[in-house]
Amino acid sequence: MLCSRPWGRYGLSLQNISRQALCRKWISLTTTRPLILPRRSFIVTSRVQDQHLHGYKDVDRYHGQYPTRTHMCGELRPSDQNKHVVLCGWAQPSRSMSQELVFLPIRDASGTTQLVYRAEHCPPDIKTTIQQLSTESVICVEGIVRTRPEGTINHQLPTGGVEVDIQRIYCLNPASPQLPFWPSQTQLPNEEMRLKYRYLDLRRPTLQNNIRLRSLMANTIRQYLIEHHQFTEIETPTLFKSTPEGAREFVVPTRKPGLFYALPQSPQQHKQMLMAAGFDRYFQIARCFRDEDLRADRQPEFTQIDLEMSFVSARQVQQVIEGMVAAIWSKALGIQLSEQSFPHMTYQEAMTKYGSDKPDLRFDLQIQDMSICLKDKTKSLDCLVVKNGASQLTGGDLKSLIKDLELTETEQQLFGFVKINENNIQQWPLKCGGGLKQMMQYSQDTQQNMNTTLNVEPGDLIFLHQRPNYLYGGNTLMGRTRLQVANQLQRKGHLTIPHHLFKFTWIESFPLFTPDEQGIRTWQATHHPFTAPFDQDIPLLATDPAKVRGQHYDLVLNGMEIGGGSIRIHSPVMQTFIFDKVLQLEKHEYERFDHLIDALGGGCPPHGGIALGFDRLMAILCQANSIRDVIAFPKAAGGKDFVVDSPSQVTVSQLKEYGLQILDDIK
Ligand code: AMO
Repeated sequence: MLCSRPWGRYGLSLQNISRQALCRKWISLTTTRPLILPRRSFIVTSRVQDQHLHGYKDVDRYHGQYPTRTHMCGELRPSDQNKHVVLCGWAQPSRSMSQELVFLPIRDASGTTQLVYRAEHCPPDIKTTIQQLSTESVICVEGIVRTRPEGTINHQLPTGGVEVDIQRIYCLNPASPQLPFWPSQTQLPNEEMRLKYRYLDLRRPTLQNNIRLRSLMANTIRQYLIEHHQFTEIETPTLFKSTPEGAREFVVPTRKPGLFYALPQSPQQHKQMLMAAGFDRYFQIARCFRDEDLRADRQPEFTQIDLEMSFVSARQVQQVIEGMVAAIWSKALGIQLSEQSFPHMTYQEAMTKYGSDKPDLRFDLQIQDMSICLKDKTKSLDCLVVKNGASQLTGGDLKSLIKDLELTETEQQLFGFVKINENNIQQWPLKCGGGLKQMMQYSQDTQQNMNTTLNVEPGDLIFLHQRPNYLYGGNTLMGRTRLQVANQLQRKGHLTIPHHLFKFTWIESFPLFTPDEQGIRTWQATHHPFTAPFDQDIPLLATDPAKVRGQHYDLVLNGMEIGGGSIRIHSPVMQTFIFDKVLQLEKHEYERFDHLIDALGGGCPPHGGIALGFDRLMAILCQANSIRDVIAFPKAAGGKDFVVDSPSQVTVSQLKEYGLQILDDIK
């Protein structure tokens, strides 16, 4: 039987295989590494000759009609015994056991099946064909399902009870034998190489599972919001406008000289305008863009589950999110969450007890207040007692811990630690090093009380840090120390955090404003400038902005901020006052928000919302180390896309069209 197109290189059947085999280009014999053999000369059929005459040579792949797939590779079971099947997928490294027996695993999106050449059951040419296939070639195989003999069953594989005796193989697209790596390799190359050849890396089951779970979760979210909570999914523009909202934006030139779009940091302003437009409940799985430095949990281009609701309280928004997260956890992990899974904590409590506005509650290690020992009452003394830490963390561990904290000179003076023993237990605050000794003033009674309250015993390790009373920002030095200590204890096996421990918490009552560290203005918005103040703090807007609390809430999971939202300012008067008087934006800066102020003044309901970082959520669900592992085509450091090699230059004429010029001195 001849395959329908005689020039199809691997339309291999008994009758045509020998002719086809003569015009092969790539041959990979090895089962462990790709091997490149010299090209063989072609014996051309008339069709192949035609191709040569026209300079088109594509004789290595089967171009004809190939049999229709009957099953997926992960689907076959012993109950399929004796069925004639057609499988399509990627050839894995073959294993020649003897002259009579060769195995060829085939993988597709659903799993892997073992194909077999067994001399007594298969056409003889099949063996040569298998051995010539380069790994990762795309093949179509016809064969007969056999149950595996007892003792040869592979219990690791869902298809491990069967194998398929090969009758015919069609090579639909041979893979280059020079592939930079195979997805099935145990030792993978570095991440840069894997990002460059992302289509190969994505074939790995781990990444396949992550991306599939992401799709499933997007569907769960849509169902929950649309079907159960009457949300409307609405797309908002990607070509937006530069507005001083917080993060650095990506600007997009236009052909109108001097005019630019900006990519949205989030759909914040549009979703508020949708509330003014009367949509009541909006959501979107939205792409956001921020020109920020990359971290394991940050991408310049990322996805938010973004929503907004009219006539709601903060608690109502939180309840919708708790239900959605519970639906996700139930679907993805079979874990049932309840309202009790989402405790609440104020910003002050988070910062004083855990030294972070996104506390990791999977381990205790609480920071204690020892300000009572200080001379200067405008300062606070943070104290972290690590029970039995004196023996668990060596001098070397502590040295590297301190190095990782990257203390400034001032911090070095205000920070210290001590290992408690029988000799120093009655005076340890004075033995912590740094310049702390000079800052202490307390009685022996106080020392006794502290030892009792903190349960200090010989063998403990204690860290101390004097800091200003006023707390702002994302963490304190003791908060960073707490995380470093936990890392060290984990590394040394003294602290175990179970994989499936999920510690959520809502953080609330943030200060609405934070001192502007760049010193350009007095205040900057702690989150974004649209967050409403607590009603009772409104009078303080004009008199003491430092004391105004915002109706903002962050959802934190295992020490990562997975979402943030707020009740918004719906008064155009208050919004303008905050832009102008508190944030001290220039008129030309806050005029950039005119569309929003107009919308607030045009009959906008009170409203609030939230956005969850979809990538971060998925990274936690998939137990991935980086959000790159849950994004099909992520950016690498410096915003680089290794797949398409961008950002890249444009031509001089393109620059001209956009009225742009690259200045050599700032290149
Ligand atoms: P926020 O800036 O807090 O709020 O963002 C919401 C959530 O988005 C995720 N996130 C990121 N994920 C990956 N890479 C990044 N660069 C990145 N930046 C943020 C985080 C974060 O909690 N418009 C407001 C939401 C609102 O007020 O409704 C906003 O964008 O998980």
